[in-house]
Amino acid sequence: MLIHFTLNAKPVAVDVAPHDLLADVVREKLGLTGTHVGCDTSQCGACVVHIDGRSVKSCSTLAVTLEGANVTTIEGLASPSGQLHPMQQAFHEQHGLQCGFCTPGMVMSAVDFATRNPNPTAAEAAAGIEGNFCRCTGYQNIVKSVIAGAAAMRAAK
Ligand code: FES
Ligand code: FES
Repeated sequence: MLIHFTLNAKPVAVDVAPHDLLADVVREKLGLTGTHVGCDTSQCGACVVHIDGRSVKSCSTLAVTLEGANVTTIEGLASPSGQLHPMQQAFHEQHGLQCGFCTPGMVMSAVDFATRNPNPTAAEAAAGIEGNFCRCTGYQNIVKSVIAGAAAMRAAK
């Protein structure tokens, strides 16, 4: 069936099967490979996108449910001029990544978290990304990134 939704501020129409998952649709039908698939069992968080502003694991979201929704992937987070989102910039500056596989989902979860908790403690920041796994960093710099990104988002308001 043909579904219509907004993807990274642009209208899209895409033909999907009833069982198609959003992660596969954005990667394979719409060519946006920044959304990663690390487990396919709703555990790792590499596939997190925003649907209507809230972080969602796209590997466990049926694409047919998206009619009329507003979807943002990691590709839609920077400004149209290419300026990184404050949370992306914070991950860069605080060395919140190593291989980068988890980073798109981590950043998308962190943006949603910081929108709801603009001034988190380290414990709150760690809890805020608990649905996202990182196999490389040991999380310390990711937590620093989330705190710095939240501060930058506050300052940008
Ligand atoms: S690929 Fe979606 S949670 Fe791992
Ligand atoms: S930076 Fe490699 S999995 Fe997180």
